[in-house]
Amino acid sequence: MQIFDKKNALIHCLSLLKEKNKHIGFVPTMGVLHKGHQSLVEKSIENNDFTVVSIFVNPTQFNKEEDLKKYPKTLEADLALLKNVGCDFVFIPSVEEIYDQHVVSKSYFFDGIENQMEGEYRTGHFDGVATIVQAFFEIIKPNTSYFGEKDFQQLQVVKKLAEIENLPVDVIGCPIFRENDGLAMSSRNVRLTKEQRAEVPFIYQTLKKAVSLTKIKSVNEIYEFVKNEFATTSLDLEYFTIAEETTLEEVLEINFDEKTRAFIAVNAGTIRLIDNLSI
Ligand code: PAF
Repeated sequence: MQIFDKKNALIHCLSLLKEKNKHIGFVPTMGVLHKGHQSLVEKSIENNDFTVVSIFVNPTQFNKEEDLKKYPKTLEADLALLKNVGCDFVFIPSVEEIYDQHVVSKSYFFDGIENQMEGEYRTGHFDGVATIVQAFFEIIKPNTSYFGEKDFQQLQVVKKLAEIENLPVDVIGCPIFRENDGLAMSSRNVRLTKEQRAEVPFIYQTLKKAVSLTKIKSVNEIYEFVKNEFATTSLDLEYFTIAEETTLEEVLEINFDEKTRAFIAVNAGTIRLIDNLSI
């Protein structure tokens, strides 16, 4: 496994492989790798000749300085995991290497899908994500790139980014990995206290109950149900939304012929967790 921190060295190395028509798979990450990331890397290794993983905590996608500062880092363990699964290249650039002296995002318009849910509660978040993902796509020029469905809205934004910016990459969504008690795997989970960790499986349990209620209750009744459930806990419900999968527009009535999903964001103290489930 080769590790790069300079983009030109990586570009040079990958260009030699592309001359030989080798397929490059790419998995962008912010580190603190877990089984969910591992599954993306394994999928890339299985379906491409070479796999690149980036580890980069992207400052422009954080709207709270505190969240960025507290973002966990486990580089040694991440590299061990990547080596173990057979990753070929790891890209760990500095902020300067990517942004030079201008640590700002570009402004994008993704037909409005960037404005709901995460976009509404984390202003500028998707501009930051799209800026870094586009930068990585332009450096690595992958044939295929893999994203987890836990960040379902991010996945749809990246698909739109590739379409709008004419980036020749297949963007593939991969299923959410869960702990045994249902909690969606996330790098943020390591920051949970013991008490919070014991309480947060409630998020997925409630999501599942809400989805099963779609057969017998109206969307408004389900919203009310979820709100009341969280009122009995110390978890702070930020949003629960039922939306169409591609446009991410909220639905007022569920049409079972269309693909819809339930989305949730919850704060456990200062730790923000998201999850979603197909209906
Ligand atoms: O999902 C993440 O970890 C990040 O948003 C990504 C895609 C690596 C961009 O920084």
